[in-house]
Amino acid sequence: MSEDNYLGNLYQRFPINISKGKGSLVWDVSGKEYIDCMGGYGVAIIGHCNDRVVNAIKNQSEKLITCHMSIYNNTRLEFLEKISKISPKKLSKVFFSNSGAESTESALKFSRKFTGKSGVIAMTGGYHGKTFGALSVTHNEKYRKSFQPLLEGVKFVPYSNPSKIEESLDNSIGTVIVEPIQGETGIIVPSDGTLQQIRKICDQNNLVLIFDEIQTGLGRTGRMWAGEHWSTTPDIMCLAKGIAGGLPMGLTLCKPEILDAMKVGEHSSTFAGNPLSCSAGIATIESIIEENLVENAAKIGNIFKNGLFQLKENHRIVRDVRGLGLMLALELRFDVKDVLFEGIKEGLLMLYSGRNIIRLLPPLVLDELKVAKTLSIMDKLLTNEEERRDVK
Ligand SMILES: Cc1ncc(COP(=O)(O)O)c(C=O)c1O
Repeated sequence: MSEDNYLGNLYQRFPINISKGKGSLVWDVSGKEYIDCMGGYGVAIIGHCNDRVVNAIKNQSEKLITCHMSIYNNTRLEFLEKISKISPKKLSKVFFSNSGAESTESALKFSRKFTGKSGVIAMTGGYHGKTFGALSVTHNEKYRKSFQPLLEGVKFVPYSNPSKIEESLDNSIGTVIVEPIQGETGIIVPSDGTLQQIRKICDQNNLVLIFDEIQTGLGRTGRMWAGEHWSTTPDIMCLAKGIAGGLPMGLTLCKPEILDAMKVGEHSSTFAGNPLSCSAGIATIESIIEENLVENAAKIGNIFKNGLFQLKENHRIVRDVRGLGLMLALELRFDVKDVLFEGIKEGLLMLYSGRNIIRLLPPLVLDELKVAKTLSIMDKLLTNEEERRDVK
């Protein structure tokens, strides 16, 4: 029997069954090897089955797996000390959860409590998750239309035009939520000055600025936080995906006065801050720092992006190349589904981002050899696709 016999039809599924992973490679059940530029949708930042994470999980699982937030635990403390060393200084208080959407939910609640205002400005094209609160600030109508009414008081403004935030302001608005680089919508990098301008508008109008760094954070873009590319720090930062080496964890990092506005019991989560995820989180942060993964993402990302530009030169089917670090996109003139499926046959896993955009979120341990191999497979895939579509 297939998994599909048991599951709802909720995911675009790929014809591949993976049983093993190491670094930037995965293997299917027949032993065939693939370069993983899908990276578990950006979760596998420090590589699959990273040794530090594997050992940390083994050791911690023999000591203590669960420990509710109402009880103190030293593994959790060690994790908090580690994350506070790499996070922006002002964001010194932390709320634990288990996923990206939960981290967004928490951020929205904390900001509403702190500002006393329910209105939120979100960005056109923004993606923050699919639970009701997170969905309310997610823009894509495809995800929203069957679930109205969502949260009231959310206004969307164009990502590229922060002055629209000022035009949309009224007394109900307390919060602005932004992805520093939009991921789901096709790796949209803001023009220089955009995030600084949003920060300035928030400061002038006493608005809480939330950065959703769930996809961009932890070195993905060649800086620890994508906001650093534009020297901009938010008031709340959402993290999830790779923070615990592949185990579930969401984090909402806050300015102390924001989290301190919350009272006991106003928000909580049973699995939050469990020692197993925390032990993997400690190992993840150690890997990022000691293996120089942020620098590697910047260096290898540049080489990869130059190679993608070369593909654009050689293939008329390619419309655009975008991204920073190892958060890259190749926009085609056509639907990319066939290219992704053919990629699997050639030993390459890639991700889509909208119908005609190939998104690449490989582990940050990727090396030059694998980039070269990836580019050569992509070259072949694009040539075949052009032939198939008769593009001259
Ligand atoms: C920017 C961003 N925010 C939020 C989410 C939602 O995270 P999760 O799927 O863990 O709920 C994602 C997931 O892709 C994301 O990329």
